[in-house]
Amino acid sequence: MCGIVGYLGKKPVVPLLVDSLRHLEYRGYDSAGIAYLDDENLFQVYKACGKLVNLENILPEAAGNGTESSSTLHLGIGHIRWATHGAANEINAHPHTSNDNQIALVHNGIIENFYELRQSLAAEGVQFSSDTDTECVVHLLNKLNKASDGSNFIQVLQQALKQLKGAYALTLASRDNPDRLYAVRNHAPLVIGVGSEEYLVASDAVAVASHHNKIIYLKDREIAEISPEGVRIFNLDGEEVQPIIEPLNIGPLQIDKKGFKHFMMKEIHEQPDVVRNSLAGRLVGVDQPIDLTPQVSNNGSDPTAILNQIDRIVITGCGTSFNAGLVGKYFIEELVRIPVEVESAGEYRYRNPVVNKKTLIVAMSQSGETADTLEAVRQSSQQGAKVLTITNREDSSIAREADIVLSARAGVEVSVCATKTFVAQIIVLYLLGLSLAETRGTYPTEQLQALKSGLLKVPTLIESVLSNPEVVQPLAKKYGHARDLLFIARGINYPVALEGALKLKEISYIHAEGYSASELKHGPIAMLDEDIPVLSILVPGLVFDKSLSNAQEAKARDARSIGLTTTDAMVDQAGPLEDTFEDILTIPQVPELLSPLVATVPLQLFAYYIAEHLGKDVDQPRNLAKSVTVE
Ligand code: F6R
Repeated sequence: MCGIVGYLGKKPVVPLLVDSLRHLEYRGYDSAGIAYLDDENLFQVYKACGKLVNLENILPEAAGNGTESSSTLHLGIGHIRWATHGAANEINAHPHTSNDNQIALVHNGIIENFYELRQSLAAEGVQFSSDTDTECVVHLLNKLNKASDGSNFIQVLQQALKQLKGAYALTLASRDNPDRLYAVRNHAPLVIGVGSEEYLVASDAVAVASHHNKIIYLKDREIAEISPEGVRIFNLDGEEVQPIIEPLNIGPLQIDKKGFKHFMMKEIHEQPDVVRNSLAGRLVGVDQPIDLTPQVSNNGSDPTAILNQIDRIVITGCGTSFNAGLVGKYFIEELVRIPVEVESAGEYRYRNPVVNKKTLIVAMSQSGETADTLEAVRQSSQQGAKVLTITNREDSSIAREADIVLSARAGVEVSVCATKTFVAQIIVLYLLGLSLAETRGTYPTEQLQALKSGLLKVPTLIESVLSNPEVVQPLAKKYGHARDLLFIARGINYPVALEGALKLKEISYIHAEGYSASELKHGPIAMLDEDIPVLSILVPGLVFDKSLSNAQEAKARDARSIGLTTTDAMVDQAGPLEDTFEDILTIPQVPELLSPLVATVPLQLFAYYIAEHLGKDVDQPRNLAKSVTVE
């Protein structure tokens, strides 16, 4: 959702900006741009459509290196765009500059009142060159700056920001103050890496990690003024706030595909180790209690007291994190016998949900930055609920605001299409369910032990699926030209059907839907004919027979049917399965409650091979971004 950077220091500014942007490429790839102050104190601006490499290709070799001695101060800003307002073209690419080239600015977020601001500025004669919401900010600042005596740019910023509505992180510079870089945060992430006489502003700490080991996490409605003398922070009322410089504990992003063609395939193959890592120290043996010591407890929270007092759980998140939450609902309700609701964070936060101090909100977010999920966390906290987050980023905004942080421990996920984090999030939800069931005595000990023993075997089961990923390839070729595809399942694998469809949609652009197999006959079955393949997930257990009947109903409407089932089912039910399905994918025998962790993997491969076969950009699918920081 756009990545922004800014640099003030004595190093050549352009390579530094480009390197920092490379670490933020997961946030968008509609366009990239930089602006820096040259030796004549003029902004040099370069922009290119598409990925960062297109910008790199147009940058003059010596751009931003400075012509004077190493004591020269360099200043620049940069941007990676995920388009919200205005097409993904060069004109709408950031940085945006004022008409007189006085101020240059980059923005992540959405200015909600941009239309009114634009109308009023245009009426005063300001020329707009782009269709973005951002451009009105730079013109507004320029207007207020001109009306001031020029001595206090912070005051100008405060005046301007009070007129803006929406979520934004901004980094900007003004030619009046060539040794000052400004950074502003309001509901969009922004950090400042602190070095020796140099500073790097970025949307994500990963962009800072290869340069600095000290960091300032800006808070909402704070303005930072960065100069060779240090960082000063002000709030919107003009009061100065003491900056808190913290150690930065994350390593730089490892951009290494380890021999795989795409990050997605590498990350799919990492899943056995991700599961091991996510279980490590938490599930040590079948007769040992689950240890759910959080990575972080904020606000003086006592995790044990919180978990003991809750009588209801509301899981919230978006996309794949939402789907993982749905799997958790089936598992936790079965074991703990308390109500678990799952709701998309974007809906939850605008619905005035009924929560109280006995409600545990579980905020699922790989990135920990998803705007809707973050707002759901804030709203729930205000209503007195306790918030536990399951995230892959312990340094994220959500992790900093939740009461309890449980890390997914999946390692950095580069592919925009989430795979290993889905599995890791489910593992943590399962551990939460097991732990609650243990302390409350709500599930027979023997069965708890069987589940724990089963969980410890999951890495080997996934390894077995991954030992021959190519078996999925012919199916991908065969069905990869379908215009629509349905994924159906029941029970705990229903969310896996949703996830399978989501993977396929996002990287192959084929229309796919996940349905409860029981819902098929209530509408979607009307669409079925020989052109719509239906993939059914059937794992022996509670809903196997019913799911098989639903698959047969689809076949009776001439749908081409693919089955995903277990090896033991292929022995016990060979006849009906072979009769129902044109093609069958198998996973090893696995208890029904644990099966989503394994059944997901062939569906990830199915989506991957189809996208590859169709020649799509697997790791950076069009229109998407890894971190969704706008609502
Ligand atoms: C799909 C995908 C998205 C994310 C969603 C939430 O592959 O990655 O659907 O799951 O944008 O992101 P997080 O988990 O970072 O909150």
